[in-house]
Amino acid sequence: MPTERTQVVIIGAGPAGLVLGQLLQKCGIDNIILERRDPDYVLGRIRAGVLETPTVQALKEAGVGDKPEREGLHMNGFNLRWGEERCHIDFGMVGKHALVYGQTRVTRDLMQARQASGGITHYEAEDVQPHDFDSERPWVSYHKDGQEHRIECDFIAGCDGFHGVSRQSIPAERKQEFETAFPFGWLGILADVTPVSEEVSWINHPEGFLMCSLRSRTRSRYYLQVPKNEDIRQWSADRFWVEYERRLPRDLAANLQTGPALEMSITPLHSYVCTPMRFGRLFLVGDAAHIVPPTGAKGLNLAIGDAQELAHTLHAHYSGGHPDAIEQYSDRALGRIWKAVRFSWWMTTLMHKLSDQPFERQIQLAELEYTRGSKAAQTAIAENFCGLDH
Ligand code: APR
Repeated sequence: MPTERTQVVIIGAGPAGLVLGQLLQKCGIDNIILERRDPDYVLGRIRAGVLETPTVQALKEAGVGDKPEREGLHMNGFNLRWGEERCHIDFGMVGKHALVYGQTRVTRDLMQARQASGGITHYEAEDVQPHDFDSERPWVSYHKDGQEHRIECDFIAGCDGFHGVSRQSIPAERKQEFETAFPFGWLGILADVTPVSEEVSWINHPEGFLMCSLRSRTRSRYYLQVPKNEDIRQWSADRFWVEYERRLPRDLAANLQTGPALEMSITPLHSYVCTPMRFGRLFLVGDAAHIVPPTGAKGLNLAIGDAQELAHTLHAHYSGGHPDAIEQYSDRALGRIWKAVRFSWWMTTLMHKLSDQPFERQIQLAELEYTRGSKAAQTAIAENFCGLDH
């Protein structure tokens, strides 16, 4: 069996894996990434698109922060809408801004940077399995080109997403899992039509939430709340546009441009956290450890935050200055993660139709009215949305 040797094996070449690979490379720590898909498949996943300030800092540290700053759209705030009412959340209240820059572009920038730096990524690596991560000599096996391969290493980083092999390799009795699922999902459309507004709006509508977002000045990203088990095959772009326009406030509906869908998909809304995030010499990073509803635009930012946390942890370990750095990784990461999980959960319960209970809607309207009249409440939303400092 062909055997390689490296310091860190990274399972997964999504945002978490690629950022971790770059940051480790920058501090001279050898690493190999194993990705089960091919590069085009990874690049083809349409997902997040809002980068918080700390995330842009982490991308800069990884050597890919300039393009988002140069080409990303500055997001200086967003609107909470209900009926024809509105509350503007101004990020200037906390002296920050976010950047609209699609995850696909982040992934492409990272893949190009890794290729340029000579980092090793084995794509189409099948049956990846972490082994002996409770020992001093963990290793990873995988199949490729009809052969079984083995990589001996010091540490394994599970950056393989919610359905990956890393978390599944941990016996149930060693994990504590926290989870809540919402009884609805987001039906999303990506279309090359002029956005109804350059500002993102979260809209609480009596028949269900909708969001007006964008990926550029010519590409719109819109979402509609649909029942949890909605079948995407029941939704054409035309049906989407009719329902979307029906729920839009009048001023935004007047600007609505429709067109063919580049992509349509349904995202379930649930929150999940696995603790701890370290098992011996195996670390969980990003969606492998936690999932948030997309309402707070936190998923991509949390994944990159974890990658930066782990890179700093391993650098401290190898530099010898902090013998307990490894032990601290999980608690430090979870401290940041739980605050983002709370904010995503709170935004979801504030803006969505939770049930047919009139009481719940009255509470939502009262919270929205209170927020509109309170700079303190608006500031709290702004600082959470722009990303609490790592
Ligand atoms: N072996 C190798 N690779 C795997 C395996 C496996 N067994 N299972 C999954 N992968 C790969 C996937 O193909 C994917 O490329 O791991 C990668 C995981 O990437 P993501 O799911 O994007 O997870 P992460 O990097 O944590 O990013 C999370 O980014 O996807 C967005 O907003 C989304 O919140 C999410 C965030």
